[in-house]
Amino acid sequence: MNVEESELLTRTGPGTPCGELMRRYWQPVALVEEIPPGGAPLPIRILSEDLVLFRDPEDRIGLLDLHCAHRGADLSYGRVEDGGLRCIYHGWLYDVQGRVLDMPGEPGGGTPECRAGIRQKAYPCTVRNGTVFAYMGPGEAPCFPSYEFLSAPVDHGFAIKLLHECNYLQANEGNIDLSHLTFLHYTRFNRGIGGEVGSRPLPTQKTVSGRSAAGSEEFDVELTGHGLRSYKLRRDLEEQQYHLYITQFVLPNCTTFPGTFRGWRGYGVNWHVPIDDTHHWKFTFEFRRDEPVDKEKIRNSRAGMTPDYRALINKENRYRQNRELMARESYTGIGKTTAGRYNFQVQDLWATEGQGPVQDRTGEHLMPSDRAVVAARKVLFNAIRDPEANRFRLVTLNEVIPDSKHWRERARELEGDVTFGAAPSSANP
Ligand code: FES
Ligand SMILES: [Fe+2]
Repeated sequence: MNVEESELLTRTGPGTPCGELMRRYWQPVALVEEIPPGGAPLPIRILSEDLVLFRDPEDRIGLLDLHCAHRGADLSYGRVEDGGLRCIYHGWLYDVQGRVLDMPGEPGGGTPECRAGIRQKAYPCTVRNGTVFAYMGPGEAPCFPSYEFLSAPVDHGFAIKLLHECNYLQANEGNIDLSHLTFLHYTRFNRGIGGEVGSRPLPTQKTVSGRSAAGSEEFDVELTGHGLRSYKLRRDLEEQQYHLYITQFVLPNCTTFPGTFRGWRGYGVNWHVPIDDTHHWKFTFEFRRDEPVDKEKIRNSRAGMTPDYRALINKENRYRQNRELMARESYTGIGKTTAGRYNFQVQDLWATEGQGPVQDRTGEHLMPSDRAVVAARKVLFNAIRDPEANRFRLVTLNEVIPDSKHWRERARELEGDVTFGAAPSSANP
């Protein structure tokens, strides 16, 4: 990637092409627990916009521009009362739709005409799986997607967020990259497939099959209507078996992973929402189909966090890397919690923050094992900038073809030929 391409995929502020793409999708912006009933308004920054999230006295959720339309004061210090949020500078009152209900400093609270002429920027919100989602794009909000992990009964779902001090794309690509699982997340104590707990060989060591985990991996990727499906196959097991790992990239900033409840029971999702171009929230969702989840247990299985969702193990303390653990049981020496388990989140945090605030992708050396990352970038490029990607060429034909020409070759010729009024260059005379 050159500098221009990298900027196109990583900049998400107002008016940027990728930012405009993201604003066409509902995005998670906060956890419901951050705005309890009767609680204070919450200042949040999303897609480089400063906003305030609040719950009005009737329990409706509003997301407004942080700065008051009157003279710019910070609304997150405001009073929640009288059907909305009131600025504490001169008392203007806003409802969740950004309408000015009252200007108490003006005669009669401001004329209806005057109040109607001013509208605080406001984005529609909805709540799913303990999370507030907002639509920050133009026009009517699109239908909310009926993802299972967001529409499951509330006690079957779990949601959390974690601050990442780096661009969203790094963590998004980290999820799409299935090659790293074998290395970054290796611990001796994970139950290796075909191996006993506690005996899992290092990714570069040979196993029963005579192959190492790392040396026996194959990757595949295919386009889907929502983005990409990625496959990883590992053949270091007994004969006639292989370990299959499937994940999804859902445009523009969301990926799935097997999660805590494997197989048919459920899966997890990481949704990387830019705060600005050098910070993002990783919202993680889990859901379970067969029974309610133990939310406390999942929360405790993660390494500690501050009340504002920053990892206690972070770059300030060098992710508490422990070289003794590295020698004995873990590939990285990073992420062992006080409960004695390893936490993948911290390992991913190290990997993605370590690439820099915005990774310099001009110096990469991409390999076949990175094919899913490359494919995801292409899908994202197309979604951002290629109107052609929205032009459908439905090749349909009834024609006699010489034996020397393959039918797929003929279809491809016609695919590019969409001039009107004259016979296309590839027309069969
Ligand atoms: S700045 Fe908010 S009411 Fe004046
Ligand atoms: Fe990871």
